[in-house]
Amino acid sequence: MTDQNKEILFGNGDELPSNHSANPHISDVINLGRRQVLAGGAAFGALAFLGGLPGISEAAQPAQNGDGLLRSRNRLPFGAVAVSRADMVSVPAGYSATPFIAWGTPICGRYPAYLENGGNTAEDQAQQTGMHHDGMHFFPMDARFKARKSDHGMLALNHEYIDPPLLHPNGPSVVGGKRVDADEVRKEINAHGVSIVEIRRNAQGEWAVLPSARNRRITGATPMRIDGPARGHDLMKTRYSPSGTSTRGTLNNCSNGYSPWGTYLTCEENWAGYFASRDAELPRHLQRYGLRPSTRYGWETISGDEFQRFDATAIAEDARADYRNEPNTFGWIVEIDPFDPDSTPIKRTALGRFAHEGLVFAPARAGWPVVCYSGDDSQNEYIYKYVSRDKYRPQRSDGRLLDEGTLYVARFNADGSGDWLALDIDDPAFQEACAAANVSFADQGEVLINTRLAADVAGATKMDRPEWGAIHPDTGEVYFTLTNNSARQEADAANPRAPNPTGHIIRWREDGRNHVGTRFRWDLYLLAGTAEDSRGPNGRPLNETNIMASPDGLWFDEDGRLWIQTDMSGSQLSDGPFGNNQMLVSDPASGETKRFLVGPTGAEITGITATPDFRTLFVNIQHPGEGSSSTEYTSAWPDGPGRRPRSATVVITRDDGGRVL
Ligand code: FEO
Ligand code: CA
Ligand code: CA
Repeated sequence: MTDQNKEILFGNGDELPSNHSANPHISDVINLGRRQVLAGGAAFGALAFLGGLPGISEAAQPAQNGDGLLRSRNRLPFGAVAVSRADMVSVPAGYSATPFIAWGTPICGRYPAYLENGGNTAEDQAQQTGMHHDGMHFFPMDARFKARKSDHGMLALNHEYIDPPLLHPNGPSVVGGKRVDADEVRKEINAHGVSIVEIRRNAQGEWAVLPSARNRRITGATPMRIDGPARGHDLMKTRYSPSGTSTRGTLNNCSNGYSPWGTYLTCEENWAGYFASRDAELPRHLQRYGLRPSTRYGWETISGDEFQRFDATAIAEDARADYRNEPNTFGWIVEIDPFDPDSTPIKRTALGRFAHEGLVFAPARAGWPVVCYSGDDSQNEYIYKYVSRDKYRPQRSDGRLLDEGTLYVARFNADGSGDWLALDIDDPAFQEACAAANVSFADQGEVLINTRLAADVAGATKMDRPEWGAIHPDTGEVYFTLTNNSARQEADAANPRAPNPTGHIIRWREDGRNHVGTRFRWDLYLLAGTAEDSRGPNGRPLNETNIMASPDGLWFDEDGRLWIQTDMSGSQLSDGPFGNNQMLVSDPASGETKRFLVGPTGAEITGITATPDFRTLFVNIQHPGEGSSSTEYTSAWPDGPGRRPRSATVVITRDDGGRVL
């Protein structure tokens, strides 16, 4: 295969940085003295994280139960799993990890059996789980009626991207840099999206997919409705939807969210690489997202409307006669009702357009707006928050709360304070910032389609690739992973290493613990990295029980323990002290942090959810054997030697049948 073809087909999925705004990187705004303290290794202790900011430390106490008694002091009662490069999933003694719903598992329609040679058709793939499992949520049966069954529910999970060499019997067919087999491309589109499966646990504790009419595949071709301020906007009009109210498919679905009213939110992350534009000058709503003349999988190189929509080059007189605006219908959060297989997924444009990693909701309070947070995972991009206009009403509210509200972007100040800056065309401060920057937007729809530009104008702080967020169930503090940033040139307190190849975790508390407000206080929870260049939440360097790099997935269990999943790649994975990608548990109350799981060769650990009784923990193992060809596999997980490696969920249980923790 030519290098050109390789570039089309084997991109690693992380987009090139496209933030060329003059905004100060957070590195530019932080006090030099503090930076030097952080850079001083042992001097880290001078900035005890848990006590480093007024008001943070007293919240980091063990939660109390209804009897007012402190929960068990040993909140991580398992032996740390050792760093490993073994091609297997390792969990602590006394636990089991069982593969479940691997790529290609039949879940609906004709339930076509998985063919080990990659020979399933595009139609088969639309009735089987997709490739490369990512964000995931277990909806207990039947959450709509406030029941919380632990042995029966709907599991919704994302399929972030594909490995074409493993998807097809002999890899993708490419001639002269162009795709030549329409069914192959359709299969690739169908291997993206979301799977929704009804699952049940039997008396032996084993989970199975039920043959249910609720089971569903949502793919890169499923019709979607567009709602919120960008619905019907001129910049959303395409040949497929001249009214700008619908589009086809969701792509590169990374992390996820789940709403207080029981819906699944899937997030469109590195979608820009699926669209090409050969226009000499890109409009700002494409330029700021980094569109290029070629795409990751080359779908736009084959004829037919279903594929030509990935070519955003302006070729007609009118936008309603071509697909110049098709990329504007991506980059959103998509809401899905996991209990209604006939429902149309909805792109909620009020939540902004960027490389959405995930979406995390603050605990909903009756009579208060709904608040959620989302990171833009690209080098030097931003962290956002949405506050609904209308109030949350239990049992009555629905996704319309996500259509009218204010989108804010974060500014992290040098003194440990922070501000939420409104991206609202009616907000005087935003209007002033637009005037000063000589940038104008016709309406709020245009602000949202250009979310990154609006955030540049507002003066947001450039961050080190924001990935997942999680909210402590007792303190309301918001934690976000900043996975790494090899492009960072200047260190600072909030991003204390330049470059930052190993990443860290930042957290903040909203002033007055009120998620609706516009001020917060932030500090750093953890610096990932080698023993010589790291800092755990207990103030000490990481050690053999918890050394990690490139934190990505993040989740709080109901007892306030933070689960951290890593996404290392390249030399970080193949060499050095970290071993394979892993999952750790960290207790903010004590600072203790321990490795709970190590994944197989080449895999990323991502996606996490649990049953209400916490006797089952679901975790996703993505792209084991990454870099395999169609005949040479670099991992034998989960099916064994000589068989194609497959992304899969693992079901984690305690061997004594008790709570996972
Ligand atoms: Fe898809 Fe940012 O991880
Ligand atoms: Ca991720
Ligand atoms: Ca990642």
